[in-house]
Amino acid sequence: MAKLTFLPTSKTYEVAPGTSYLDFCQKHTEVPQDFGCTVGSCGTCRLVVEKGAESLNPITSEESETLEMCTDVPGARLGCQLILNGDVALRPVD
Ligand code: FES
Repeated sequence: MAKLTFLPTSKTYEVAPGTSYLDFCQKHTEVPQDFGCTVGSCGTCRLVVEKGAESLNPITSEESETLEMCTDVPGARLGCQLILNGDVALRPVD
């Protein structure tokens, strides 16, 4: 199992490798993550990967384009596009 940690609280969950972050959040509604379109175009789900970026699916050109429009925070990703393949620590973008 992989570990998914939310910062700054350090609340940690175990997830099966290959789990969609969107699916995980829809099953765990207590986690601090907002979604809008769920298809990578609105930017509502942006977050920062503090640890374990290598354990996520690679960023696509479509995800990069959306991120360029909604944040300038280095290391940002779109939660609705993430696949969790290993241990990661995530932090919401302010
Ligand atoms: S929910 Fe719209 S980009 Fe992720």
